[in-house]
Amino acid sequence: SKGTYPYYMLKEIDEQPAVMRRIVDAYLPADGSVTVSADLLTALDQADRLYIVAAGTSYHAGLVGSYLFEQVAGLPTEVHLASEFGYHMPLLSAHPFFLLLSQSGETADSREVLVNVKKQGYPVLTMTNTAGSTLSREADYTMLLHAGPEIAVASTKAYTAQIAVQAVLAKALGLHRNLTAAKALNLRHELSLAAAGMQTLMDEKDQIKNLVGQYFPNQAHAFYIGRGEDYPLSLEAALKLKEVSYVHTEGFAAGELKHGTIALIEEDTPVLAFITDDATAAHTRSNLQETEARGAHTMTIVSEHLAQPTDNIVLPDVAPLLSALVGIVPAQLIAYYAALGKGLDVDKPRNLAKSVTVE
Ligand code: M6R
Repeated sequence: SKGTYPYYMLKEIDEQPAVMRRIVDAYLPADGSVTVSADLLTALDQADRLYIVAAGTSYHAGLVGSYLFEQVAGLPTEVHLASEFGYHMPLLSAHPFFLLLSQSGETADSREVLVNVKKQGYPVLTMTNTAGSTLSREADYTMLLHAGPEIAVASTKAYTAQIAVQAVLAKALGLHRNLTAAKALNLRHELSLAAAGMQTLMDEKDQIKNLVGQYFPNQAHAFYIGRGEDYPLSLEAALKLKEVSYVHTEGFAAGELKHGTIALIEEDTPVLAFITDDATAAHTRSNLQETEARGAHTMTIVSEHLAQPTDNIVLPDVAPLLSALVGIVPAQLIAYYAALGKGLDVDKPRNLAKSVTVE
């Protein structure tokens, strides 16, 4: 039940710190080891390339995960949309391993991919929130998200859970391979930090509600921008805002704007920038200024160690590879308050179903 919450979406956003702690309890004992099946690790270790396949928010979580698998586990990784991959399979590596990400475990496009790759004899892992779901039953391996039931159509806690569980697997494989990057990532500690950071942001939700009032009084279009890992984060932030508030929102790689899309910026168009990456912070700031010079109403969402006094939302610092865990929280709240402000049914946006069981 929603309990005292007006909508499931707000309840589920609010549950994210607890979900992070559940994932710690399920997978990361205090001795620094990782609880992942030895068979799964052996099979994954034999792969020369990981293919992550998913739809919607799960696809966006996979994009974040690809950085983890490459940087923590040294495993080359590609991320694909299930609806494309089912019918236009790329040339595969010699020893592919498939990771299907699906909150529901029932998405038809993802199932189609699973059936195809199983037919070809390739190993498949499903990460899902739903034990006993179709994708879980048909895959060789399952890792559960432990997010608890997600009722709102807009996926929130399943996204952060998918990132965290991918981090668990990347860490486990990296340790199995004896990699320094995996040993250096104290995931138990980092996920606890992320949980605390999420809580801090939830506690500031009235401030975010005020910002929504200022930035989205009546806007038809908006943009989220970011570079590096802030780019997939921008894609997810944009999906949240458009699906629940019907504000047409695009997520963009900050450096790509001036190759065409900046033509869309008008007086007061909201442009929201994620800045969590040291290497590209200055570049993203200058891209944002370019939009401001053309009339954009800019908002910055910035990691604490990069923050300046004029920034709008400050994100508690976490390990750079996990910045999306905290970065997404204000964007989820922005989407929620924008929809609420318009009097929309936040949990059941028009034209959408919770799980998409047709191709
Ligand atoms: O259950 P799945 O993770 O396979 O669902 C995938 C998408 O349908 C889902 O993430 C959808 O994009 C959500 N409405 C996003 O909030």
